[in-house]
Amino acid sequence: TTKPVIAIDGFSSTGKSSISKLIAKKLGLIHMDTGALYRGITYFALQNCTGDNGQINIAQLISRLPEIRLEFQDIDGELQLFLNGVNINKEIRFPQVSDNVSLVAKEAEVRNYLLQTQRDIASKGGVIMDGRDIGTVVLPNADYKFFMTASQDERARRRFLELQQAGEDTDIETVKQNLITRDTIDSERAVSPLKQADDAILIDNTNINREQTIDLILSYIK
Ligand code: C5P
Repeated sequence: TTKPVIAIDGFSSTGKSSISKLIAKKLGLIHMDTGALYRGITYFALQNCTGDNGQINIAQLISRLPEIRLEFQDIDGELQLFLNGVNINKEIRFPQVSDNVSLVAKEAEVRNYLLQTQRDIASKGGVIMDGRDIGTVVLPNADYKFFMTASQDERARRRFLELQQAGEDTDIETVKQNLITRDTIDSERAVSPLKQADDAILIDNTNINREQTIDLILSYIK
């Protein structure tokens, strides 16, 4: 039997990536965190394409997209993101990247640039991919589609704890504001907006933990 292609989309900080990673391990699939790719491009833009005001110059970024080579490498069993040969796995989680990524991700040229990379990975099957438009645009023929959500307060609480553990100096209101802003930009953009695919199964994990969420998702996969 061939291994399934699974699409997991949803709001920020619903646990999509960590849950996908664990399901991949259980089912022997490759896991791809597509948000990391958008973060990688944003990191490049913050390094190379900002004006005097420190803001990203989108036109400049688009003209330099061909210089950007993103790839995942297996480091001790974890896929880490490399930008032109340099490991940027830690840097892509910095707040400055989180604050700018949705503005970069709403550009059609940026999304197109990443589309083929994502489809190539899924072409052999046996993959679980998480993001915002996987079930709707990237892999519309996925075998299974899930759409994850949870209350804003619960998502802010989880992300805050995560950042705190990583040693980031932040507070829960700032974290919550970033989530709201990102979800709004992601849902309202013209190209590939964040939305539940018609044939996706809705998973609300406000009141269940990570293991229960995984069991719920696995219960749908034959
Ligand atoms: O998943 P993560 O929170 O790391 O994604 C960061 C951002 O990347 C999202 O807020 C969204 O703007 C963008 N993104 C996207 N499409 C995807 C994955 C992520 O637009 N498939």
